[in-house]
Amino acid sequence: MPDDHVTSILTENRVFNPPEGFSRNAHVKSMQDYENEYRHSIENPEGYWASKAEDLHWFRKWDSVLRNDCGFFKWFEGGKINVSYNCLDRHFNNGKKDKIALIFEPEYGIEKKYTYAQLLKEVCRLANALKKQGIRKGDVVEIYLPMIPELAISLLACARIGAVHSVVFGGFSADALRDRIQDSEAKLLITADGSFRNGRVYPLKENADVALLECPTTQKVIVVKRTEKSIPMYPPRDMWLHEMLADSSIEDYCEPEQLNSEDSLFILYTSGTTGKPKGVLHTQAGYLLYAAETFKYIFDIKDSDIYFCTADIGWITGHSYIVYGPLANGATTLMYEGSPTFPAADRFWRVIEKHKVSVFYTAPTAIRALAKEGEELPNGCNMSSLRLLGSVGEPINPEAWMWYYRVIGKEKCPIVDTWWQTETGGIMISPFPGATPLKPGSATRPFFGIDPVILKEDGKEAGINEGGYLVIRKPWPGMLRTVWKAPEKYIEKYYGQFPGLYLAGDNAKKDENGYFWIMGRTDDVIKVSGHRIGSAEVESSLVSHPAVAEAACVPYPHDIKGQAIYAFVMLKKGSQKTEQLKRELSQHVGNKVGPIAKPDKIQFVDDLPKTRSGKIMRRILKAIAENTKEYGNVSTLADPTVVEKLAAERVQ
Ligand code: WTA
Repeated sequence: MPDDHVTSILTENRVFNPPEGFSRNAHVKSMQDYENEYRHSIENPEGYWASKAEDLHWFRKWDSVLRNDCGFFKWFEGGKINVSYNCLDRHFNNGKKDKIALIFEPEYGIEKKYTYAQLLKEVCRLANALKKQGIRKGDVVEIYLPMIPELAISLLACARIGAVHSVVFGGFSADALRDRIQDSEAKLLITADGSFRNGRVYPLKENADVALLECPTTQKVIVVKRTEKSIPMYPPRDMWLHEMLADSSIEDYCEPEQLNSEDSLFILYTSGTTGKPKGVLHTQAGYLLYAAETFKYIFDIKDSDIYFCTADIGWITGHSYIVYGPLANGATTLMYEGSPTFPAADRFWRVIEKHKVSVFYTAPTAIRALAKEGEELPNGCNMSSLRLLGSVGEPINPEAWMWYYRVIGKEKCPIVDTWWQTETGGIMISPFPGATPLKPGSATRPFFGIDPVILKEDGKEAGINEGGYLVIRKPWPGMLRTVWKAPEKYIEKYYGQFPGLYLAGDNAKKDENGYFWIMGRTDDVIKVSGHRIGSAEVESSLVSHPAVAEAACVPYPHDIKGQAIYAFVMLKKGSQKTEQLKRELSQHVGNKVGPIAKPDKIQFVDDLPKTRSGKIMRRILKAIAENTKEYGNVSTLADPTVVEKLAAERVQ
């Protein structure tokens, strides 16, 4: 069994049924409807997905729905499609050209709204500008931008011409950007003169300049003017976007490239068990179909909805549920810049009030942080437009769930607790809001076509309420296709432990009603405020500091962040164990990885608990960080006395 601890204490036993009015108008109106459709989708997944794929626009229809090519799955081969055409032109041609596609709520400056017609034009213009720089089908474009409309437009512009986008979260450091660009071998980078957050400017262009010193493949940089801050420009490499677009030869329309279903759409780097982040690859048709279908059913989307997801497009949630899912459905999607607590902790509530948001999707960490501020702020805003709430990124503890339900949803909005991953492309386990009775803390039941199971170490299915590895049995269209430039890692990491079955890396259990409860990672991934951080990344950044000999990082429970990082650090001879050095190390991690990866606690140690073969026993470090005192068997340690010593010096 994985030795992870349950991150939430499940105390709420009530079940919350969907409001009647909600069910009546929902796409899926009852559990009976869900069960029927689910059974049908599982009995014949290929037939099910083929019938759904009919709703997309194809230049040429597929020859085969699914093919297993030595463990690499191919969906809709033979089909020709364009994702941006499906997200824009299709709605433009279907009477939605004046519908608002995108609302932008800035931290600084004035809001912007784009109709489908305007968004199509902006996407085409950027696509033409990219082409003018020699970007062609299959070329990788790195994107390192703030949460501004140009970010969404960049994704779609790449999709239009068949360029492969690789977005790097705007809060990442120069080193993190460099590593990702080096791995993806991007030809061009799109960045900005800075990004606003909490009233300050984060130096994106300066970071990019440092990163690019070691990225020979990237010969061109497009810079968006956002902050008006003066920054160094190095022509001919660097070009201002507004100057490129002022060129009269840039046309307002760009013919969409007719792409194969399995051509690459994007790479998104994410942390795994070991070493550097890996590039998760998603392709055209299957990803689009899965993002579109899950968005439609799980957010029960209607033409009149105003949908607001608070994620950053630098993460998969933003890709699938700010950009591709909503736009594929012709919905109105709202993106915001900044932070949930600036200028005040009512930022989200004011945005909801102002734009009459009806569907709101956020992360438990944000809910916990905002709940701490009390009920006055949300109660001071009129949020009667809300009809559905969502949660993503980490387990939601029942306290946070209840607050969200009561204070934000006024007990009339279902909550969809959605479990999924960068690799899955879209939501895998979630309530259907008009059908599923909700149990706070459970992501409930699988989406159509998804066949999850809990397995024990020996590969046998776990019993009811018995924990185990969460595994997905059947392929689904949104699944990752490979790890960029490392196909062997894809097979080993995801299909190695239980051959032929997708290993999610989460520990979970299934209850007597078939509801899934996700209990946290089985690997060395730490979910800090819902962000996925690899212990190995933090450890190697610590070790790159001249004072550090060795480091081991583990998660511990944190009231707001869900999990925070506890670092055990062994110094080199001659280095002093000072508070000043702790601050310096934390800053060092901030610079190397990004501020979100900074350890909250650092303990200087003389020794680490290692087996005789030299393997660090993280289970023991976790128990110390969590102060559970349940160290388990310590007899295999080279020096068992180290445990008590570490525990005695634990950082409170
Ligand atoms: C965790 C984010 C519990 C889980 C979309 C998963 C969750 C990892 C939930 C993927 C949820 C995500 N309940 N845990 N509703 N949603 N997780 O790739 O550990 O950033 O494996 O994708 O987040 O994180 P990623």
